[in-house]
Amino acid sequence: MIEVKNLTKKYAGRTAVDSISFEVGKGEIVGFLGPNGAGKSTTLRMLTCFLSATDGTASVAGYDIYDDSIEVRKHVGYMPENVPLYPDMRVIEYLQFRARLKGMRAREAKRAVEEAMDICSLTERKKSIISTLSKGYKQRVGLADALVNKPELLILDEPTNGLDPNQIRQSRELIKHLGERHTILISTHILSEVEMTCGRVVIIDRGKIRASDTPQNLIRRLRRPGEIILEMKGDAGAAESGLKKIDGIEAVSSTQVYGGWSVFNLKTDPSIDVREDVFSLVQSSGWKIRELASRAASLEDAFVDLVRKTEAEEKETEETAS
Ligand SMILES: Nc1ncnc2c1ncn2[C@@H]1O[C@H](COP(=O)(O)OP(=O)(O)OP(=O)(O)O)[C@@H](O)[C@H]1O
Ligand SMILES: [Mg+2]
Repeated sequence: MIEVKNLTKKYAGRTAVDSISFEVGKGEIVGFLGPNGAGKSTTLRMLTCFLSATDGTASVAGYDIYDDSIEVRKHVGYMPENVPLYPDMRVIEYLQFRARLKGMRAREAKRAVEEAMDICSLTERKKSIISTLSKGYKQRVGLADALVNKPELLILDEPTNGLDPNQIRQSRELIKHLGERHTILISTHILSEVEMTCGRVVIIDRGKIRASDTPQNLIRRLRRPGEIILEMKGDAGAAESGLKKIDGIEAVSSTQVYGGWSVFNLKTDPSIDVREDVFSLVQSSGWKIRELASRAASLEDAFVDLVRKTEAEEKETEETAS
């Protein structure tokens, strides 16, 4: 559905996107992740023909972004980073106007707009003037616009930006639902959302692709120690030295909490489950225990680790070069 090869964008000599290549297959939901300024929006704007590339090629929905830009735009629903809306129009008028612009006939447009408003839970606000809508509702108008002509492919640039936690949860459900009908490429900073909705993740950092894999594999590849949380009451000093002696525990740190309780954070060898030994220690010492849990690594950990690692590697190459 999307094929990108050596795509590059330079702004006034500065390279924002540096010869990236990746693919998105039909029916996939792919998360496009990266820190601020990584080049996500620039890439998505090139793919939707709102920005011309400096170099490289890409085909989107079967059309070349240089030769068939009109067709690309027709076949892709794009929700840009800052949705440009006409503030003085009513929701329904705006969406009908947009549907007609996309080449739909009046009657077809009317039906499609009702459907899009229904999918995006906008129906009750359809008569509202856009400028009076909250940010979340404006985002929904942008999304309804992107999917009104039922494009095969949706490209969404931070659709949940600025939404409250409840709306983010709703949008997660919505994206899952849309994924049944559309191929989706979505950029977002909300990694829990990606972990739950995306089959694959492409990570970009400083203009370069750093990884392309399933969230599960990225987490599995993560080379970081395991982590155990222990909350207990007793002799904190003795506990610390006792814990350090347990086979598999590599580092111990602790904080005091209210009421004489201490929370220990244990870094462990991930191949050894130390919880039984920890429990025995606490029990035989006559201390009290309130929590003993292992914290599973998340996509967020994998993301942070990956971005940090490439940063360090690049610094090293620079140092060797100079
Ligand atoms: N019109 C422009 N002119 C010059 N530089 C630009 C322009 N647009 C973006 N840039 C630069 O290109 C780089 C990539 O920007 P881009 O907006 O693609 O990042 P992003 O990954 O979308 O970041 P964010 O998460 O903040 O949205 C940044 O360094 C940015 O400053
Ligand atoms: Mg952006």
